Amino acid sequence: MPSTAPHFAIAIDGPAASGKSTLAHQLATRLGLIMVNSGAMYRAITWQALQDHIDPSDHAAVIDLLHRLTIECGDDGLSSTITLNGCDPGDALRSEAVNANVSTVAAIPEVRAKLVALQRDYLTRTNIVMEGRDIGSVVFPDTPYKIYVHAAEHVRSARRSNMGEIDSVAQRDAADSNRSTAPLMVAPGAAILDNSHHSIEASVLAALEILKQQGLAV
Ligand code: DC
Repeated sequence: MPSTAPHFAIAIDGPAASGKSTLAHQLATRLGLIMVNSGAMYRAITWQALQDHIDPSDHAAVIDLLHRLTIECGDDGLSSTITLNGCDPGDALRSEAVNANVSTVAAIPEVRAKLVALQRDYLTRTNIVMEGRDIGSVVFPDTPYKIYVHAAEHVRSARRSNMGEIDSVAQRDAADSNRSTAPLMVAPGAAILDNSHHSIEASVLAALEILKQQGLAV
């Protein structure tokens, strides 16, 4: 999609628990941008489906839910926010039930179309760092600023359990990589950053160097 928006996006993609959110937060703070967590949008729809006792694999029911929902995506000056019919799901977005079902909901093309439009809308308002799975490949394919963050699977699983979360990252990665619409992939033009053995500070410095090489004035 050629962009005529007056603002720019830095796209950060990668598998579950690869450190995308931490990196995106740090970059946003240092560069004065809004950090947009696109995974929270897929989590929010999943949470609402579970609240309404909708089977996440029932596409028609999830699509019907989408039509009934007023989804408001904004920001608090630092990071993205989301409400569904005026309600903020908060920490429930990271529950075990949402972790287990979010890939199923995220594979539904109509869900993706709706959320991608809301994601692109941020660029009409502000400069952003957006993290997800398809940001460099689908949401903002024309941005020159793209990083694919990676870390070894055992490192990623350990990060999730250290956070006290039950999350089968390998299962989620397989589902997110093998779906037919907008699978997790290294976007054309993205630089790969493997942070398996990096401190947060080292990852941020490596990312800033990549962005500089991609033409960002940092
Ligand atoms: O980044 P996260 O782990 O919070 O994302 C939760 C799920 O949402 C992830 O398993 C796949 C889906 N997702 C997606 O399909 N596309 C995105 N741009 C972001 C997340």
